[in-house]
Amino acid sequence: MIASALLRKWSVVPRLFFLLCLVSGSAAARPPAGTASDPEIENKISSLLARMTLAEKLGQLQQLDGTWDGDVRPEQMELARQGLLGSAICVRGAKRTTELQRVAMTESKMKIPILFSFDVIHGYRTIFPVPLGEAASWDPSVVERADCIAAAEASAAGVRWTFAPMVDIARDPRWGRIVEGSGEDQFLGAAMAAAAVRGFQGTNYSRPDKMVACAKHWVAYGAAEGGRDYNTTEVSERTLREIYFPPFKAAVDAGVGTVMSAFNDLDGIPCTANSFILTDVLRREWHFHGLVISDWNAVKELIAQGVAANGEAAAARAMTAGVDVEMVSQFYHEYGEQLVSEGKIPMATIDRSVRRVLRVKYRLGLFEHPYADEGLEKATLLSPANLAAARELAARTFVLLKNDHETLPISRQLKSIAVIGPLADDAQSMIGPWSGDGRKEDAVTLLAGIHAELPTAKIIHARGCDVTGDSRAGFELAINAARESDFTILAVGESADMSGEAASRSSLDLPGQQLELIQAIHATGKPYVVVLMNGRPLSIGWVATNSPAILETWFAGTQGGYAIADTLFGDVNPGGKLPVTFPRSVGQVPVYYNHKNTGRPPGGDSKDASRYIDIPWTPLYPFGYGLSYTQFRLSHLELSATHIHRDGTIIIGVDVENTGDRAGDEVVQLYLHDLVASVTRPVKALKGFERVSLRPGESRHVEFTLGPGDLGIYNQAMQFAVEPGTFKVMVGTSSEAGLESSFEVGP
Ligand code: GLC
Repeated sequence: MIASALLRKWSVVPRLFFLLCLVSGSAAARPPAGTASDPEIENKISSLLARMTLAEKLGQLQQLDGTWDGDVRPEQMELARQGLLGSAICVRGAKRTTELQRVAMTESKMKIPILFSFDVIHGYRTIFPVPLGEAASWDPSVVERADCIAAAEASAAGVRWTFAPMVDIARDPRWGRIVEGSGEDQFLGAAMAAAAVRGFQGTNYSRPDKMVACAKHWVAYGAAEGGRDYNTTEVSERTLREIYFPPFKAAVDAGVGTVMSAFNDLDGIPCTANSFILTDVLRREWHFHGLVISDWNAVKELIAQGVAANGEAAAARAMTAGVDVEMVSQFYHEYGEQLVSEGKIPMATIDRSVRRVLRVKYRLGLFEHPYADEGLEKATLLSPANLAAARELAARTFVLLKNDHETLPISRQLKSIAVIGPLADDAQSMIGPWSGDGRKEDAVTLLAGIHAELPTAKIIHARGCDVTGDSRAGFELAINAARESDFTILAVGESADMSGEAASRSSLDLPGQQLELIQAIHATGKPYVVVLMNGRPLSIGWVATNSPAILETWFAGTQGGYAIADTLFGDVNPGGKLPVTFPRSVGQVPVYYNHKNTGRPPGGDSKDASRYIDIPWTPLYPFGYGLSYTQFRLSHLELSATHIHRDGTIIIGVDVENTGDRAGDEVVQLYLHDLVASVTRPVKALKGFERVSLRPGESRHVEFTLGPGDLGIYNQAMQFAVEPGTFKVMVGTSSEAGLESSFEVGP
């Protein structure tokens, strides 16, 4: 069903590729990664373990970094020759990986292949929208398809392990890494996490065009105090289990082969030394059989965090807690033999971790096929099908925030267009942070996209200002360009390096003089649209109030310029929805839709309520919000029952109709509120969504089935249970409002 449903949406070539991606994972199915392996592999591992020295075992638990541009470091050749390099990060390219691999496979004693890894977060060379943008599509197939292509490109380049999906829930947009995940909601995040694992791994990652994925950063890294990266986190077990765990559980259930421990300390115990999350939850509760790798130097950082006095202690704490592989720091290598000889670490612990590493390598088929192929690499990277997919998928991630007086779509009859703003021709920012092996020279900027869309029109480009800084020296040129043109496209927001790791901001305002530039263009009285390019929600109050049209495009990837032009001129009708709340002010943070009611709920007339005295307590744009060039109507909300047993299920149905004159997509969203429970509950929680494509006048019936897994909560005893009571249902096209009903859950 999913294949046919998807195929209606896409043009021919990418469809065929997607079908290939979809099918490729199903062949020769083996137990999904992460579950108990098959005996044949386990026996081979046992045989290897019996012949390995302790030094060779510790070598399998060591990951070392190549150079940032993908070269092997000289010392790694010797380590490979001695069989002491289990995996490498950043080394990439069929030629370079093969050179190092050949040393390991022909000159070392055990001839165990090296596993090459890299951060293939939203594409390898063909770059797709950043994950926050992909989540804005509210279409898991966008993520699955993008990551399927990413896996094909990366594996052709010799990379078979990606450190993605990043599935951290983020409720604080000051945190730069909000760009890498799927936003603030665990239900949407879980759907995207599972889709990413399917895309990267298929159901059998031994296929040469697949790779093993990594759910990161385990766990609650997005709860960093102050939104300041790497900062401490204090999260209750109930909030962990209800908000931060679900996307990881979805990834594990989807068969993710690896997990990465996070930098942050969680309630005083760094994740990299935290046996509750690494062993009790991951291994004992969830039966995860894959491998856990630390984050970069995170084992070493246990010293700075004050839970290890030295490298030996840090290695011991991480090994004992459940970290199998050490990334970049080398304490396992340096102290492992001493820890075993002193009886501080049992050999069984080492063997268990080595087994997990070898299991992944066997699953990948690396022993049989250790080498990449340069011809395949050349044919796969940036292929026309991949680029066509990148263009199509990018357009599904855009969110139309405002469109007064049908400012958009822009008419092709216009004779002159001004393209203004510091991001209009910024190719590097178009591919966003964590852009893998993506190259800015491959990227299509917005300016290039507009030229391609209107080859004969007069296009005037003016930067106006930089992304940051106080200079308004370019304003006059920009204002003149707007005055001389029929329409202005303003490209503003953040540069790519203002998002991602170590890129927290204390403000959510448009940086530099960009707001002033928009105001200057606004003052000309000419029609314009604000195109946002950014990696986090922005507090764009003045723009939201005064500008006629706003299109959120995130960082749209290698084909972003074409995709934005396709949307601005109406070839594509935007159908995305916000995966994260846009605050009015950074002072509201954290602000998210699934908040608690409190004893003094805001929104009433009382001043003694949970609110601010200087701004409305509501967000600028709510979670799930997004407009279209057409209009939709929901009707006929129906529940299959008014009462169900706590073990029962209920079907919730609604009709959605395209009441406008243009085909478009709508995202039907189901929210639930457990009105009275043994612990406080959010005023609403997303429990279902479906993006539907409708022609003008077309109507579709959408249904959601809810069961105990959707109704249950972690009660006072921290047990997951469905409690009797009334559940309020809301079905809408954003989290803000919709059709309402309710049902009872009996004892
Ligand atoms: C970084 C990031 C992590 C990434 C790793 C390897 O510091 O925290 O997400 O996968 O190091 O680059």
